Amino acid sequence: MVQRFSRVAGTGSCLPGPPITNDDLVARGIDTSDAWITERTGIRARHLADAGQTASALAEPAARVAMAAAGVGPDDVDLVIVATSTPDFVFPSTACLLQARLGVRGGAAFDVQAVCSGFVYALATADLFVRTGQARCALVVGTEVFSRILDWKDRATCVLFGDGAGAVVLVADERPGILASALHADGSQAGILCVPGAIAGGGVIGDPFLRMDGQAVFKFAVRVLDEVAREVVAKAGIDIAAVDWLIPHQANLRILNAAARKLGLPAERVGVTVDRHGNTSAASVPLALDAMIRDGRIRAGHRVLLEAVGGGFTWGAILLEA
Ligand code: UT7
Repeated sequence: MVQRFSRVAGTGSCLPGPPITNDDLVARGIDTSDAWITERTGIRARHLADAGQTASALAEPAARVAMAAAGVGPDDVDLVIVATSTPDFVFPSTACLLQARLGVRGGAAFDVQAVCSGFVYALATADLFVRTGQARCALVVGTEVFSRILDWKDRATCVLFGDGAGAVVLVADERPGILASALHADGSQAGILCVPGAIAGGGVIGDPFLRMDGQAVFKFAVRVLDEVAREVVAKAGIDIAAVDWLIPHQANLRILNAAARKLGLPAERVGVTVDRHGNTSAASVPLALDAMIRDGRIRAGHRVLLEAVGGGFTWGAILLEA
């Protein structure tokens, strides 16, 4: 019997509007500086969605590009999973809205809420659907409009994030693409990164903005990214040194560099887009993956280690062969 695997067949991206530089934020009245943001985070620019651009609106062009790259049409896609913490609505899910935008019908469509780990959670879930034969062609998207949930008066958070979408088409294949994955969560750490508000009775109950204990997040992220990367590589039975590319969640250049250093991987093998995208939460990993496939750095046969950490707390990693 042929062993069924899942393989990435195409990727796509969407970034709204022109890049907004750190100096542009200063010009908009935020009490910060290019020097502070660059030194602490490595971020030089981010993209911000217009008022009318929703998570599904950014997801649609990213998905269309990924589907074209994979050579699949709406009739081929039998699973849509969207990772987002900034959905268009409370319901229906952004995945259902995206399915309708694309003219996809019939298969399952649902959202995954794991904040910045959302895409890794979604891709690991899609892999299980494909490997068990429940889907043959999955569209997996990370899409965010984090600018909507930022307190633009809180300079410690508003300078860090950006908007965007990244998409992957995952298809059934006889050759292994996804080699191993691991997902984790620790709900006891919910308070260090959260939007502690809810919609009830026609208004927002609580705080509608992102709140973060930056230093606690930093320490937690560096530790769990190292642990989960080692776990996944061991599961796949390979050595860390055999990883061609590390694509961590693009939170902060210092976190990326610390994660690579702990793993013993040189900086040249780490995918970095945080400098030009900021932190796009669930979109950051697929945006970086797409950029590196398109610029020719990731080639067929390369081993790529995706890893992410985010609110919840959640974290996870996926090792795949391109
Ligand atoms: O997906 C996960 C998302 N989260 C993260 O990636 C966050 C991880 N944490 C971090 O990256 C860092 O903790 C930050 C970049 C958020 C902050 O860096 P820090 O070195 O931990 O700075 P801090 O919060 O301790 O603040 C240091 C100083 C403070 O001033 P004083 O009290 O020393 O006078 C802040 O008021 O920097 C000030 N500050 C700023 N100054 C200019 C905070 N934000 C800004 C700003 N511009 N945007």
